[in-house]
Amino acid sequence: MSKAPLAPYPALRLRRLRQADWTRRLVRESVLTPSDFIWSMVVHEGEGRIPVPSMPGVERLSVAECAKAAKEARALGIPAIAVFPHIDAEKKDALGEQAADPDGVVCRAVKAMKDAAPEVGIMCDVALDPFTDHGHDGVIEGGRILNDATIERLVAQGLVQAEAGCDILAPSDMMDGRVAALRGALEGAGHQDVMIMSYAAKYASAFYGPYREAIGSGKLGTGSVDNPADKKTYQMDSANTEEALREVALDITEGADMVMVKPGMPYLDIVRRVVEAFAMPTFAFQVSGEYAMIMAAAGNGWLDEERAILESLGAFKRAGCAGVITYFAPRAARLLGA
Ligand code: PBG
Repeated sequence: MSKAPLAPYPALRLRRLRQADWTRRLVRESVLTPSDFIWSMVVHEGEGRIPVPSMPGVERLSVAECAKAAKEARALGIPAIAVFPHIDAEKKDALGEQAADPDGVVCRAVKAMKDAAPEVGIMCDVALDPFTDHGHDGVIEGGRILNDATIERLVAQGLVQAEAGCDILAPSDMMDGRVAALRGALEGAGHQDVMIMSYAAKYASAFYGPYREAIGSGKLGTGSVDNPADKKTYQMDSANTEEALREVALDITEGADMVMVKPGMPYLDIVRRVVEAFAMPTFAFQVSGEYAMIMAAAGNGWLDEERAILESLGAFKRAGCAGVITYFAPRAARLLGA
């Protein structure tokens, strides 16, 4: 907010401060550094690295490659990695049982990354969708996603992640009451230092499209004859903003240490309101579709790729974010000179 009364033109010429790089740097209001990034990473159960076609430059990584990537994050000054699993289709079931497997690919990746680079924070998605054959984030009964039955599974999942050495649990399911349940379970199991970053205001969004390909969960969740449940029954309506404040308030009272808005760029108005209303460490997720849009336009020569990456990430800082979860993290850190 502008506090000073403005001198009239020509005493005030706003362009004076824009005339050289040094003046622009001197008066810059927000700064983007590698410390602002949480690197969004997909781990798979096989060997090596597998490109994700709809996300040029993003690959699914084996557990061993994740460990190397953790060292890379450390070298680049990226504070944390968020890990998302790609699970073989035959291991999925209606309840997402694999989500709570202590020997599953997420827990193995967490251990490998913490061994390789203990200084890098590891965040795990607490959600069932990579593990369910229907692609939903919850247990379904009669076409409805059951809230409380889902929470029980999320708690089991969160506990094995914490046991594996995960530093931050990030519930992305949007069930009511899951933050309190996770916090209680963590305290009860002696994991009082494990943090919770809640996907507090998470919207039902078309921008998650490429992620579904990346984790192999198909184009589900829109409500169809075969699969009547709809992600819109748990994720937020994109038209709403007052409701976002209620969601965030709820998660803070339940014990969230940090809150997140998702998707990112189309929801910066929500970020700003959350920052102003709660003054909590607030993050945004620059999701797969946002990544794909920039890369597709740049691939066609319609955008300057490097400038678009940094400008898009800088927008989150300008909006008041403490940091941003992004697939661009290593690339952007290098562009920033890391
Ligand atoms: C679901 C989850 C999703 C993403 C992260 N966790 C997809 C969804 O809610 O349908 C999307 C991430 C992205 O698009 O990059 N638990």
